[in-house]
Amino acid sequence: MKKRPHSTPLATNKHLLRWVEKMADLCKPAAIHWVDGSKEEFDALCAQMVAAGTFTQLNQKLWPGCFYARSDPTDVARVEERTFICSLSKDAAGPTNNWVNPFDMRKKLRGLFDGCMAGRTMYVLPFSMGPIGSPMSQIGVELTDSPYVVVNMRIMARIGLPVFKEIDKAEKRVVPCLHTVGAPLQPGQADVPWPCNPEKYIVHFPETREIWSYGSGYGGNALLGKKCFALRIASNMARDEGWMAEHMLILGVEDPRGEKTYVAAAFPSACGKTNFAMMIPPASFQRKGWKVWTVGDDIAWIKPDADGRLHAINPEAGFFGVAPGTSAKTNPNAMAALAKNTIFTNVALTPEGGVWWEGMTDEPPARCLDWQGREWTPEVARTTGAKAAHPNARFTAPASQCPTIDPDWENPGGVPISAIIFGGRRATTMPLVYQAFNWSTGVYMGATMGSEMTAAAAGTIGKVRRDPMAMLPFCGYHMGDYFRHWIKMQRRIKETPRVFHVNWFRKAADGSFLWPGFSENMRVLKWIVDRARGRALGRETPIGWVPRYEDIDWTGLDYPRERFEELQHFDHNLWRAELMGHEELFLDLHDHLPKEMIYERELLICRM
Ligand code: GTP
Ligand code: SPV
Ligand code: MN
Repeated sequence: MKKRPHSTPLATNKHLLRWVEKMADLCKPAAIHWVDGSKEEFDALCAQMVAAGTFTQLNQKLWPGCFYARSDPTDVARVEERTFICSLSKDAAGPTNNWVNPFDMRKKLRGLFDGCMAGRTMYVLPFSMGPIGSPMSQIGVELTDSPYVVVNMRIMARIGLPVFKEIDKAEKRVVPCLHTVGAPLQPGQADVPWPCNPEKYIVHFPETREIWSYGSGYGGNALLGKKCFALRIASNMARDEGWMAEHMLILGVEDPRGEKTYVAAAFPSACGKTNFAMMIPPASFQRKGWKVWTVGDDIAWIKPDADGRLHAINPEAGFFGVAPGTSAKTNPNAMAALAKNTIFTNVALTPEGGVWWEGMTDEPPARCLDWQGREWTPEVARTTGAKAAHPNARFTAPASQCPTIDPDWENPGGVPISAIIFGGRRATTMPLVYQAFNWSTGVYMGATMGSEMTAAAAGTIGKVRRDPMAMLPFCGYHMGDYFRHWIKMQRRIKETPRVFHVNWFRKAADGSFLWPGFSENMRVLKWIVDRARGRALGRETPIGWVPRYEDIDWTGLDYPRERFEELQHFDHNLWRAELMGHEELFLDLHDHLPKEMIYERELLICRM
């Protein structure tokens, strides 16, 4: 087959061709590259980035197919205060989103994007969120001037020729996504390894289903299929079409009878989704025949099937996981998934051409270059506290490389969901696990969820904020309407999933975690699965059903009853304060709050 130049359009869809032309006129790139998604193209782009200093090829014996990137130190996480939902009315975006009038925003963006790709190549990157051809999948095209984005998206989504083919069939509406790092090059001007702009705009137009992203090359700001499309835009589609776009992992639990139970879990950013999704049960559980299968680690699209049962797909094809804390001990499956064909961003580089991050090994390397390229030694760390890897350093790894990837992870019909789990990072108040009484208490539980802030977004780390359903930064419309959508979903389903809340992060008075977490979370997951299948007991409390000490399988773990009681302890005063936190959220959302939320709150107060 004769190879075509990348400037030749790879699609015939007239709307697409016209849009690409229009955006090229605006952004004025030096060249246009239609992304075919091939391995050759990927290799060429990586080689080009190595030459430009953006990428370092890792030692291919130790890390085959792997590359390393350092971002600009000012471009290391999502920027929530620069993220906008520009719906026609401010009321539709709600008080938890930044809103600007779409006409003003378009004018602003047209100015910013005018000539923004000068001296760079504009990549035309088609991607499918979900398996190509699945009725639950959606298609987008990202125009970007970042080759880093193209190679990351090749891991995170299905891209290239097969997607152009779908677009040419013109059955599906395509979500236009425009992205620039916002760093045009004058003729002769030398590029930097990580171009970006101090001014950032991550903008969504929900009615027209459009995304415009300016100034950042990092993660959710730039890989537009992920948070921008699969959550903020998709949450709008889902509300209109009767499904759900959620910040949830999906996993399957195989029990000793060989039955599989799928659950979806919403934890805020950097609160344990990847770890939970890839969990390896303790040896004593494995011996009995328990196994956990991974479907997805960050996003779930959930839809009732013809029989009224909720089915979920993972719209992504890769993991954009938090590196620090990931180790052969805490998450061997992630370590196996990232062992090859992975892109590492903002971790440390070892002298032998490998990568390292805090928590990867007990012994740190004697020396390495930190995420900013500075000499780092354990001694430096001791005296200055400097971290080798940025706390939000990430790996981009193909999901197919995960040893526990579920045989049905690409099933176009999704997997049936029997339980939904909410969970935050809470040093106090929240027990290890409790179960909601029913769907509407479950929605209340998710709606009022709180969590301590993490490094996944710029902000005050450690502060508890309300993060409803872990969607605060990701819901593309009014949070009160989102709760209503959740409530209304019950009418579309015949088998309602059971709803649970977990907290792996409760601390003892001395500041240590009360719960060992990670694979030991299997003990909690077993109770959840058994409850969902109606084969486990619990005790009723004001907040919901909780396991008694004897309802948890403790084989292989010496965890004293008193410690468990401390972990599950219901502190009346702390819960009073918690309820005030709920009230504050509800005050903000009052004019869109479904009455079920008010009633649930009243009932909770009465029970307390
Ligand atoms: P995003 O990709 O930002 O959405 O994050 P995530 O929810 O996938 O979080 P991830 O699994 O990457 O975990 C983030 C941090 O939480 C890591 O530092 C983990 O080591 C830590 N963590 C995960 N599970 C547990 C647990 O059970 N107990 C404790 N103490 N820490 C955990
Ligand atoms: C998160 O912050 O929840 C992430 C990382 O999964 S990012 O893709 O940057 O949003
Ligand atoms: Mn996430």
